[in-house]
Amino acid sequence: EQAGKGEYDHFMLKEINEQPVSLAQAIEGRIDPINGRIALSDFEPGSFADVDSVQFVACGTSYHAALYGSLTLNQAGVQSTALLANEYSVSAPPIDDDTLVVAVTQSGETADTLNALRRANAEGAHTLTVTNVVGSTAAREADDALFIRAGPEIGVAATKTFSSQAVMLTLLAQRITDDLRGEPPTDLESLLSALDAMPGAIDNLLDDSDAAEIARRYRDSESYFFIGRGLGYPVALEGALKFKEITYEHAEGFASGELKHGPLALVTPDTPVFAIFTGQEDEKTLKNAEEAQTRGAPVIAVCPEDHPAVAIADDHLEIPETDPDLAGLHANVQLQLVSYYAADLLDRPIDKPRNLAKSVTVE
Ligand code: G6P
Repeated sequence: EQAGKGEYDHFMLKEINEQPVSLAQAIEGRIDPINGRIALSDFEPGSFADVDSVQFVACGTSYHAALYGSLTLNQAGVQSTALLANEYSVSAPPIDDDTLVVAVTQSGETADTLNALRRANAEGAHTLTVTNVVGSTAAREADDALFIRAGPEIGVAATKTFSSQAVMLTLLAQRITDDLRGEPPTDLESLLSALDAMPGAIDNLLDDSDAAEIARRYRDSESYFFIGRGLGYPVALEGALKFKEITYEHAEGFASGELKHGPLALVTPDTPVFAIFTGQEDEKTLKNAEEAQTRGAPVIAVCPEDHPAVAIADDHLEIPETDPDLAGLHANVQLQLVSYYAADLLDRPIDKPRNLAKSVTVE
């Protein structure tokens, strides 16, 4: 097993560091080099032209990637929702022939997600699986499959597969929007250049990260909060999930604007707040972070170097300037590192957290 980890102490750290390569693999060949459109060559032109609405179903980290994809579609004007697969059997929204149901599952074997997929198939939806595992049950049972090509992930806590899922869903969202409108969204050029730069940018971020120092500085805290708005919201949820999975410390993710509607009661000098800035109404997120800071909480801003939040926050984790559709995914890599180093300081069994399994095949 040690051999498989190479130079790293844990598979999780190895897999975090594999992201420049796994992201390049996810993107490769899927953008049309001739006219710069997102061809997503896995599908014929116009495949999604009849789609009325898109429902994503998933669990755990995959649910956060699904939410990321769903919000991207909503922001492009396409009706979409992300649902926890284990809630789908009791409260699935209406489905018809023009509903696209996308099951997002790293393993392709999660029982809850398979159940939701089977229900969607039975009700006549067009179904698609986004997965890492070719030949998995979900890939076989859906009408179509889209592979994220992240390579094997051994650490129970999903890292590189989240990033690849979210990138794939960003490409899919663009392609659906393109098919529905007959033209790509106007900001496509910025997205394409950000996608192109992403593997290199993540590589630099991994080399220069202050995450280990931040983890050390806040190691004695009582709870860890993560806030984000727009596409920063699923990243806040994922940052908190990763943190609790491997450190066993209490962590919660909130929509920035929700902090004042309840969670602010929990905020003290012992509850650091990681604030994720994606370029979507950042001034409001900064105000929300300052509300926590006024109550004594240290704020760690996850944003570019010249962002106004840097001057106000107590600490800073840097991400590059990039397209708002992808900024949160860069922030997420910093948060993966914070969780990893915090768990390492606590001497947790990082690759195999207690009570958790890589793939849950029971309901
Ligand atoms: C388990 C794992 C999580 C994972 C979830 C969904 O709970 O511990 O890390 O996100 O299953 O798995 P899937 O294979 O469907 O993405």
